[in-house]
Amino acid sequence: MAAENLKWWQKTIIYQIYPKSFQDTTGSGTGDLNGITDHLDYLKKLGVGAIWLTPIYPSPQVDNGYDISDYTAIDPAYGTMKDFENLVAESKKRGIKIVMDLVYNHSSDKHKWFLESKKNRTNSKADWYIWRDAKSDGTPPTNWRGIFGGSAWTWCEERQQYYLHTFAKEQPDLNWENPEVRQALYDAANFWLDKGVGGFRIDAIVYIKKPAEFKDGKPDLDGLFSVHDAYANTNGILDFLHEFKEKVFVGHEIFTVGEANSVKPEDLNKWVGNDGVFDMLFEFSHVNIMFAKGEAWHYPENWKLTDLKRVLTESQKATAQNGWYPIYFENHDKPRSVNNFFEEGADKVKAAKALGTILLTMRGTPFIFEGQELGCTNVAWDSIEKYNDISSHGQYQLMLQEGLTVSQAMKFVQRFSRDNARTPMQWNNKKNAGFSTGAPWLPVNENYKTVNAEIEEKNADSVLAWYRKLSKFRADNKELISGDYELLLADSEEIFAFSRSLNGKTFITAVNFTSQNVNLPPDFSNKKIVLDSESDADKNFLKPFEARIYSAK
Ligand code: NOJ
Repeated sequence: MAAENLKWWQKTIIYQIYPKSFQDTTGSGTGDLNGITDHLDYLKKLGVGAIWLTPIYPSPQVDNGYDISDYTAIDPAYGTMKDFENLVAESKKRGIKIVMDLVYNHSSDKHKWFLESKKNRTNSKADWYIWRDAKSDGTPPTNWRGIFGGSAWTWCEERQQYYLHTFAKEQPDLNWENPEVRQALYDAANFWLDKGVGGFRIDAIVYIKKPAEFKDGKPDLDGLFSVHDAYANTNGILDFLHEFKEKVFVGHEIFTVGEANSVKPEDLNKWVGNDGVFDMLFEFSHVNIMFAKGEAWHYPENWKLTDLKRVLTESQKATAQNGWYPIYFENHDKPRSVNNFFEEGADKVKAAKALGTILLTMRGTPFIFEGQELGCTNVAWDSIEKYNDISSHGQYQLMLQEGLTVSQAMKFVQRFSRDNARTPMQWNNKKNAGFSTGAPWLPVNENYKTVNAEIEEKNADSVLAWYRKLSKFRADNKELISGDYELLLADSEEIFAFSRSLNGKTFITAVNFTSQNVNLPPDFSNKKIVLDSESDADKNFLKPFEARIYSAK
C-alpha cells in the first residue's frame, strides 16, 4: 500500500509512558501528568506522534493502576483533569496524540460497582462481576489459577460466594455477559474520546469472555489450572468486540491496539484489519521467545536467533495484506530489551542500537518504551522484599513451592521482573536521575550517572542520538513506512537481515546479534551503506552488534 494511503498512526512512532516513573514535578516521588507535559519537546525530537499512557485513573495501585476504581477521572497522584486537558492541548500543538489504556477485563475491588456488587445477591450491580457458589466442600468453584499466582477465586463473606479474578484478588473480573456492564464501559471510553484522545490500548482483552460452563482443568503446577488455558480467547469473544468497535471506535480518527496474548496467526484476520475489531494486536511470541514451553522459570534460555526471526517474520507476513503490526521489544511488563535479547556480557550501548535499528526499520508502527531510547538496562535487587511488582511476588512463591532455592528464585526475579522496566526515567546525573526531588516510589537504576538523557543529548554516539537518526531516516523514506518486508539470510544464527522494498527501491537492514565479527555474504559488499552504528564500517563484515542499513537496487 502506498504510504500516502496510510493512516496517521501507521506513519508515526508511538512512545509508551509509565506515568508513575516518568517525571515527578511535585516531589511526591511519583511521576505526574505535568511531568509528561514538560518533556513533550524531548518526545517531539524523537519523532513521536502519539504517547500511550499506562493507566492514570484513580487506583489503589495494587497493580500500579491496572486496578481502576473510577474509569472517568484522574488519580490525584498524577494531577487533575485540567492537567490532563493541558497535556492533550500541549501535545496537539506538537502534533502528538494521547492514547489511553482501557482496562476492561476487570476493575479494582474498590470500584463503586464492586463495592455495591459484593453487598448481597440482589443489589442493582449484583450481576456486574462473576460470582459463583462454593463447591459442596466449601472450596472454590473451579481449580483455576490466576495469572499472578494462587486461586483465581476469592471468597466474599457478605454474599457467601466466590468472585473470579484473572489477575490479583483486588482485580475482580467484570461480567461482560451483562449488557449494562458493557454499556458502562463503552460510555467511559467515549468520555475520553470527547476529551480528544487519539486512540486506545486495550488491556488483557482475550480474557473478557468466559466459557458457558465452569469446569476444573487438569492441574499443572501447584494443583491448579491456569486461567489462560481455561478461557483465553473463548468462542464468542469477537461478538463482544464487534459491539465495542461499533459503539466506540467507528467514525473516529483513532487507532486501537489490543493486548492479545495467544491469538493464533490463522485467526488474526478476525481480530485486525478490514473485518477485524482492532487496528493492531500486541502479541507475545517474540518477547516470550526465551521461555521454554510451560512456566517461565523452567527457561533454559536456549532460544536461537532463527527462532526470533521466524516469529517476527510470521507476524510481518500475517499483517502484510490485512491489518497492521505494532513493533515492540519493550513495555512495562517486560525486562529491558538489552538484557532480554542479548547475552549477559553484551555491550549494552551497541546492543541497544542493534535492536533499535530493527525496531525502526521493520514494517508496522514502532512502539518505544520510555528509556529504551537511552539503552536503559535491568536492575538486580538482592531480596524479594525490594521488588514492588505483584507478579514477581507470585512467581517467587510458586518457585519456592516447586522446590527452587531462594537464590534460584531471585535469579529469575532479577532477570524477568516487571520492575526492570518501571524504575524511574533517567533524565540526568543529578539526584534521583532528575526524576524527583523526593524519594522515588521505586529505586533509580544505579547506572543513571552514565545512562541518562542529558548526557546522551551531548554525545553524537549515544543510543539516543542513534534513535533520533533512525527516526528521521524512517520518516524521510517511505519505503520504511509501507515497503514490503522480506527476510534475508534466514538460516543465519548471527545476523538478522531483511529488506524493505517499494516501487523498485529497497533498503536492507543487517544487524549482528553476536559479540564477534561476522562475515557478510559477498553480494552485500557492493551495496551502498546509508547508515551504520559503527563509524569505520568494513563492507565485508559486521563488528560485534553492528547495525547497518543499505540502499540497494
Ligand atoms: C496487562 C498489563 O500490561 C499488566 O501490567 C497488568 O498487570 C495486567 N494486564 C492486568 O491488568
